[in-house]
Amino acid sequence: MISRGLLAVGLLTASTSATVYFTENFDDKWESRWVVPSKWKAAEEIGEWAHTAGEWFGDAADKGIKTSQDARFYGLSAKLAKPFSNEGKDLVLQYVVKHEQRLDCGGAYIKLLGPELDQASFGGDTPYQIMFGPDVCGSTKRTHVIFNYPEAKGEDKNLLIKTDVPTRTDQLSHLYTLHIMAANNSFNVLIDGESVREGSLEESWDFRPPKTIPDPEQSKPADWVDEEMMADPADVKPEGYDDIPATLPDSEAVQPEDWDEEEDGVWEAPMVDNPDYKGPWSPKMIPNPDYKGAWEHPHIPNPEYSPDPKLHARATEVTAVGFELWQVKSGTMFDDIILTDSLDEATEYAKETFWKKQEGEKAMFEKAEEERVEKEKAEREEMKKKAEENGEPFEEGDSPFSVSDMEITEDEDEDDEDWEDEEEEDDENSFTMEL
Ligand SMILES: *[C@@H]1O[C@H](CO)[C@@H](O)[C@H](O)[C@H]1NC(C)=O
Repeated sequence: MISRGLLAVGLLTASTSATVYFTENFDDKWESRWVVPSKWKAAEEIGEWAHTAGEWFGDAADKGIKTSQDARFYGLSAKLAKPFSNEGKDLVLQYVVKHEQRLDCGGAYIKLLGPELDQASFGGDTPYQIMFGPDVCGSTKRTHVIFNYPEAKGEDKNLLIKTDVPTRTDQLSHLYTLHIMAANNSFNVLIDGESVREGSLEESWDFRPPKTIPDPEQSKPADWVDEEMMADPADVKPEGYDDIPATLPDSEAVQPEDWDEEEDGVWEAPMVDNPDYKGPWSPKMIPNPDYKGAWEHPHIPNPEYSPDPKLHARATEVTAVGFELWQVKSGTMFDDIILTDSLDEATEYAKETFWKKQEGEKAMFEKAEEERVEKEKAEREEMKKKAEENGEPFEEGDSPFSVSDMEITEDEDEDDEDWEDEEEEDDENSFTMEL
């Protein structure tokens, strides 16, 4: 009974100590909280943020921000009420991304920024602590998880996860969550509440030198046999084998009647392949009885390695969050950002925001897609009719929309790999449309 009571108290303490450092749902006062950098690039290179619910949405009154001009840089940042550090605490960074355009190339990641930040000149060179979220360009489609690690060995202190994390590039809203766990220095990346990658921080980034190295004192013994097969000593070259020529004079050839020995020289039959020739001789191969397998270099502990018990503490002086992006085709939207030390808080926030709007948005998108397909079909019919009237040939390629593009249907993402492949096709088709 006593231990149960203690457990209950423990849980209570855990839930009440949760802190939310930042939320943003882009209400009508959003501009008073966010600063668009004025000194980052020339004014004409900087894209404008639209405040809108988008083309399809679950709630018309609930707006987000959207990139609205093609081939532009986009930047903006917002300060936290007070700075925070994730040392000894979990960190959860979560937000919603929707690519309403058929995305070809563009970033959609968020950054946790520190005291170095000058909001007016915030840009790609501004130091950050964590960068998280989708980045798509051509066939490169991934969810970035980059940590600044000042102790990193190499020149670049911003370390990318070793194996790319999948991302979503369809035209619906998706919830991206990064959860860093202090207790065991591990992480989890979730999209729409489902884990797409989790594991230990140490194993998933090159923070530390490797734990073991090949023993420099050891090398492959000179008598190590690592040849699996050997020539059969019992197999000897048959006598006379090398006497068989590769080609022979063609026995069926006859000297042409008009051959003039004085002018053309002595007639010789052309050479043809010898059917008895078997190529150069080589002995039969048999398994080598002395074969020991591939030699494996023994490893020893790396003297340069030491664990970092504070690997999770990658955001120790966060004072602001920001977006700093390049978009070829605009139309990416952001909404419902939360930064907290509790996954429960983030899950609760998503329930009140993202999940409430999801069904409605999907239904509206599907309707918009149907209308688009109908419209394109009608336009194609019209072109075909015109071509026939003018007696010109009409080919599918003359249409601004390819047939395959119209047949693409939004698929449910059951499997990340399959899903990515579908997206690949989808992108190519959207490219066709632009031509
Ligand atoms: C770390 O702890 C969490 C929560 O207990 C657990 O879900 C996760 O699998 C652990 N991660 C690793 C890499 O051990």
